[in-house]
Amino acid sequence: MRKETLEQLALFGSPPSFAEEIPVGQVNLPPWDEFKAAFNGIFARGHYTNHGPLVAELEEAVKNALGVRHAICVTNGTIALAIAARALRLGGQVIVPAFTFPGTVQALSWAGLEPVFADVDAHTHGLTAASVAPHIGPQTSAVLGVHLWGTACDPSGLAALCDAHGLQLFYDAAHAFGCSHAGQFIGGLGRIEAFSFHATKIISGAEGGCLTTNDDEIAARARTIRNFHQAHSFADVGLRINGKMSEAQAAMALLSLRHFDAHRDHNRRIFMRYRERAAVWRGVRLYDYPNGEAHNYQYAVLEVDSAAGLSRDDLLDLLRAENVLARRYFHPGVHHLSPYAEQARPPLLPVTDALCRSSLQIPLGPRVDEGIAEVICGLIDLALAHADEIGRRLQARREGVPG
Ligand SMILES: Cc1ncc(COP(=O)(O)O)c(C=O)c1O
Repeated sequence: MRKETLEQLALFGSPPSFAEEIPVGQVNLPPWDEFKAAFNGIFARGHYTNHGPLVAELEEAVKNALGVRHAICVTNGTIALAIAARALRLGGQVIVPAFTFPGTVQALSWAGLEPVFADVDAHTHGLTAASVAPHIGPQTSAVLGVHLWGTACDPSGLAALCDAHGLQLFYDAAHAFGCSHAGQFIGGLGRIEAFSFHATKIISGAEGGCLTTNDDEIAARARTIRNFHQAHSFADVGLRINGKMSEAQAAMALLSLRHFDAHRDHNRRIFMRYRERAAVWRGVRLYDYPNGEAHNYQYAVLEVDSAAGLSRDDLLDLLRAENVLARRYFHPGVHHLSPYAEQARPPLLPVTDALCRSSLQIPLGPRVDEGIAEVICGLIDLALAHADEIGRRLQARREGVPG
């Protein structure tokens, strides 16, 4: 139902727009009969993990889909990043954004490295050569860029900067499966890239991840590190870990890959609906994707600025009361989370801090159809039309004043 007046808002006591919660992170489940057939195969073979045929098939399929020489499937995206860092033989400090999922940075710490935070670009939300350069010092060994929301993270600028300073460049591509840069699928940028196949990603193994690279030596090291058993050694590495992907994960991810086009097309339809409606919003910008590139349209990210007349958090409260489980990605920023918040000298990241205050992710995925997107847009229209009054009432409520 489209709400027309303030009194109809759940925030002010009316029933919510949706009886069931609509989360931001949504799961693309495969058709049950395909799932059953895939798992029947696993049961018939009795091969559940340790480099089974489905993992091999998935690695081949990812290589072909992305046009890269090597795909190495692992347990999850965080382990993929830690393995990538070890495969690159990094030491000391790695420059990384704080406007990202905590796993990006935690992976570096688990690999024994010191993350150094650089600010991001206000438009792309990613690192740039200009934002990274001031942080390069004698201890720096690498830059870890994040293709946030699937937008390539300044590949040519960062590559030139890293080459000039003898640094390794690698990427967190967790959001970027099926997204392109300069007409090529993300997967072959930097020395190595790490994808997440988490349940909410467009390619889902329930949990899962994958490393991609065009470098034979780095691939051999990554393949070796992912397996703690010495029978699977392809290169000379030090510490190893259990990063193996199971057959169950590979089966799920293969089914996701089979249905990728349909999932992407659904996402694109909903995203375009949001884009059309966002064009008239004052003070609320929908993060847009690069023109002329392939994209998976997994995320609808809003930035709420002062022109909206109400704060990001007010809009969040309003939507959540309606069972639209919008989320403050990424709040408060990794640099404000333990253990990084305890740094002696907190980093100065004005753009990151501004984005952490202003950004809001709204639902997009298989559980959002055009009707639901319309209702969500209608709620934002209503919020903006009555921004002052909503802000006033919420402020009064926070101060304990009735009304
Ligand atoms: C940008 C980013 N990096 C890393 C990760 C970690 O991936 P995983 O959950 O597969 O460990 C995520 C997870 O959602 C992510 O969004």
